[in-house]
Amino acid sequence: MKVLVTGGAGFIGSNLVDSLISRGNEVSVVDNLSTGKLENVNKNAKFHKIDLTDFSGLNGIFEKERPEVVFHLAAQINVRTSIRDPLLDAKSNVIGSINLIECCMRYGVKRIIYSSSGGAIYGDPKQLPAPETHEIRPLSPYGASKFAAESYLSAYHSVYGLDYITLRYANVYGPRQDALGEAGVIAIFIKNVLSGKPIVIFGDGEQTRDFVFVKDVVHANLLAIDYRGKHREFNIGTGIPTSVNTIKDQIKSILDKEVEVNYSEAIKGEVRDTYLDISLAKRELGFSPKTSLFEGIRETAHWMMDYLNSKR
Ligand SMILES: NC(=O)c1ccc[n+]([C@@H]2O[C@H](COP(=O)([O-])OP(=O)(O)OC[C@H]3O[C@@H](n4cnc5c(N)ncnc54)[C@H](O)[C@@H]3O)[C@@H](O)[C@H]2O)c1
Repeated sequence: MKVLVTGGAGFIGSNLVDSLISRGNEVSVVDNLSTGKLENVNKNAKFHKIDLTDFSGLNGIFEKERPEVVFHLAAQINVRTSIRDPLLDAKSNVIGSINLIECCMRYGVKRIIYSSSGGAIYGDPKQLPAPETHEIRPLSPYGASKFAAESYLSAYHSVYGLDYITLRYANVYGPRQDALGEAGVIAIFIKNVLSGKPIVIFGDGEQTRDFVFVKDVVHANLLAIDYRGKHREFNIGTGIPTSVNTIKDQIKSILDKEVEVNYSEAIKGEVRDTYLDISLAKRELGFSPKTSLFEGIRETAHWMMDYLNSKR
């Protein structure tokens, strides 16, 4: 099967590309390398450096590659950037997504599998764990743009019958997550501990998130290829709330290092608790997160050690 992965040089996308290649799929990657890295891209994938906002360039790639399934992960993912510059965020996440959807229509793509964000679109959840039917109330332009792309997929489905699946992730962590970004508390903590820097926790550390390992997220994408049921939107997480203090304690015990921990003022407007109801994905897709937090953190820490050593 020929597949195309947008954002395939990024954290989740590159892990997905590796799995697709090992399944024997023919993989093309589309990425502008804004946060992604060429070194992440599997050598057996075809790489196209292009921005999704470049419609004619994208069209040319579709004409040449003719993918059957498209995984759409490319996005501006920084919440603070989206607040500072909503237009930039919308260009990538809304216009870029529409360009991609148009190309999928023109070239008869059988299915788009879109990476959305449960954490960003449900806002401050009124119901925990948050199900797919939870009210959509994004608290940032990033959440709004991620949901806008979901809405376009749904509209194209109604008007043209375009087939799609949307996966709404919890907090994803694992190898290749950029510790310099703001998204990954696990990556940031591991990097700090390995480099002997203090860990900073905003608030009392008892705020909870749903941390899901990247390989489980990749597996959910693979399950979505063949799903033939009637549902289109699925939460992908663990369904388990974990506090930031628990993350800190696990990292300390796995790395067996003493760490200075500084508690700082809570971030204004930050959601206190959020985790996802994954029962629909379990029932319909057969999804079940396999990696325990301990195993996932250990694998991430080993990757980070190798990565930091290779950069020395
Ligand atoms: N990491 C998480 O916890 C998380 C949670 C929920 C949803 N998501 C979603 O998963 C997807 C992947 O996220 P990630 O954590 O791997 O981030 P990432 O930044 O590592 O990956 C995004 C990739 O998209 C590329 N890109 C960005 N804008 C582009 C554009 N306009 N044209 C072409 N390429 C572009 C970047 O260079 C990068 O390689 C995103 O859509 C994100 O919204 C991630």
